[in-house]
Amino acid sequence: MKKIEAIIRPFKLDDVREALSEIGVRGMTLTEVKGYGRQKGHTELYRGSEYKIDFLPKIKIEIIAKDSMVETIVSTIVKAGKTGQVGDGKIFVTPVEDVIRVRTEESGEDAI
Ligand SMILES: Nc1ncnc2c1ncn2[C@@H]1O[C@H](COP(=O)(O)OP(=O)(O)OP(=O)(O)O)[C@@H](O)[C@H]1O
Ligand SMILES: [Mg+2]
Repeated sequence: MKKIEAIIRPFKLDDVREALSEIGVRGMTLTEVKGYGRQKGHTELYRGSEYKIDFLPKIKIEIIAKDSMVETIVSTIVKAGKTGQVGDGKIFVTPVEDVIRVRTEESGEDAI
């Protein structure tokens, strides 16, 4: 199993969530975050305004998935989240040891 952590533009959230739902992603965790990438100290457009501060609002989505689903999930997020401009975000993929569903005590892939 893998954790897919995607930092995306807030206005792309609906598109990304819809696209993920269409490919069968059932659960996810969402956090409002702030961050910066390579353009630190430079301006970026956010909702039509230029930001001169370092940290810009972003959305972080976390999804735990079977290995076999990772490629599809990543390409879906890229397709739905891309504008082609700097600041489109980043996706991190890391290994996951185990998942436990609290209600049923199932574990591993059955608990996803
Ligand atoms: N190396 C990193 N570690 C952790 N978070 C990062 C890293 N790079 C980017 N992020 C997060 O992703 C968000 C978007 O990054 P961004 O898309 O600007 O990356 P970039 O590498 O600068 O690419 P681009 O040149 O396309 O802007 C940042 O606001 C930050 O939250
Ligand atoms: Mg950047």
